Amino acid sequence: MICADEPDKMIACRKDSPMVLGVGEGENFIASDVSALLAYTRSCMYIEEGELCILTQNGITIKNHALQQVEKEIQTITWDAEAAEKGGFEHFMLKEIFEQPEAFKRTLSGRIHGNQVHFDEFSLTAEEINQWQKIYIVACGTAYHAGLVGKQVLEKLVRIPVEVEIASEFRYRDPMMDEHTLVIVISQSGETADTVAALREAKLHRCKVLAITNVVGSAIAREADYVIYIWAGPEISVASTKAYTTMLIAEYLLGVYLAQQKEMANFDERAAILKGLQQLPEVSAKLLTEPYLAEVQRAAERYGMAENIFFIGRGMDWAIALEGSLKLKEISYIHAEAYAAGELKHGTLALVTEKTPVIAICVQKSTYDKTASNVKEVKARDAKVLAIINEGDTQTAKFVDQTLEIPTINNFIVPVLAVIPLQLISYYIAKIRGCEIDQPRNLAKSVTVE
Ligand code: AGP
Repeated sequence: MICADEPDKMIACRKDSPMVLGVGEGENFIASDVSALLAYTRSCMYIEEGELCILTQNGITIKNHALQQVEKEIQTITWDAEAAEKGGFEHFMLKEIFEQPEAFKRTLSGRIHGNQVHFDEFSLTAEEINQWQKIYIVACGTAYHAGLVGKQVLEKLVRIPVEVEIASEFRYRDPMMDEHTLVIVISQSGETADTVAALREAKLHRCKVLAITNVVGSAIAREADYVIYIWAGPEISVASTKAYTTMLIAEYLLGVYLAQQKEMANFDERAAILKGLQQLPEVSAKLLTEPYLAEVQRAAERYGMAENIFFIGRGMDWAIALEGSLKLKEISYIHAEAYAAGELKHGTLALVTEKTPVIAICVQKSTYDKTASNVKEVKARDAKVLAIINEGDTQTAKFVDQTLEIPTINNFIVPVLAVIPLQLISYYIAKIRGCEIDQPRNLAKSVTVE
């Protein structure tokens, strides 16, 4: 609130939506997200639900709901101011896609020692981990898609059953959870209302909550028992890119960590995953070179005017397909759906014609043969097929229209790379169609309403 009679005063109160104050010299700021403050100050205060803030040019007073004064710690924002600028890129989305190799380095930094994973933020003993009989991963949108990969990572490495839930569904269906359940909440912003509500529901059931988030001091980071920061840097574009891939890396690190702490025998497998993760910054850069981008643009020109596009894959390739289709629909407004490739023949195949391009993710080696036969089924219905394949795959190109290769990496962590051409193709299609790429219609970066 501002008032003409007191021009040097602003009053703000936090109710449901996030609020952060910027502390400057001779100036103070109110914002909903720290990225808005970066150009002005690195000092901030996170405001809790129900708190009342009175700001003048030279002072900030904070009171609780009973109007008692509250002392707040001033926190330092570590993000670079340049990170919130486009830095020569036409859109934040493209810039953030290009920032992935650096973001991967930050997510991994200080967390791998030899063949061991270590988190500065917390530690867990075998006894604590063995208490958990079940894991829920709860998130929305792209973070939910990261959870679908996380399920496969954790079940394989830690051998605890994992269920992945959409946060807006989770608490309305009386989920079975108690002190023997770990609830992992994933959220770039750390402020998504449904995810925050799911976290609180889990705490009411005495579950331990582990958060994977990008924003230090966010509601989710503050309220969880354990936090893994993805250190992706500010993500401004509504379409999430680097946050998604760094969430995946955080999940791989978590999987290896839990298996290691439980002293599980899969030592070689864990070592191979860690080696692969460390190669990601260098290998991912190969997907951002001019010749590769030219190939993706060629695909974008070919498929960009379609009215419907299907994405197919199996296992982790299906999880990636879901993320690719969300990216495409949110920024290009093309109707896109992702299907488990084996499900096509149970109904959706009826929709496949020469006017329905199909993007097939064919990088999981364990399911390759089966996916390839599904791709042949859509080709037989005259669909144009773009396949995402592993480098060295000489078979797929023989029966599809175009391929985009993923450089060689440990096959278990290939989703981190396989999604990058999908991010790029969505971007270039949206560009061809003249869409508002960074701020698509009807969408907000942080969804702070349920
Ligand atoms: C991603 O491209 C979307 N804009 C959206 O699905 C997003 O991932 C979702 O709203 C969850 O946000 P969060 O990670 O901040 O919780």
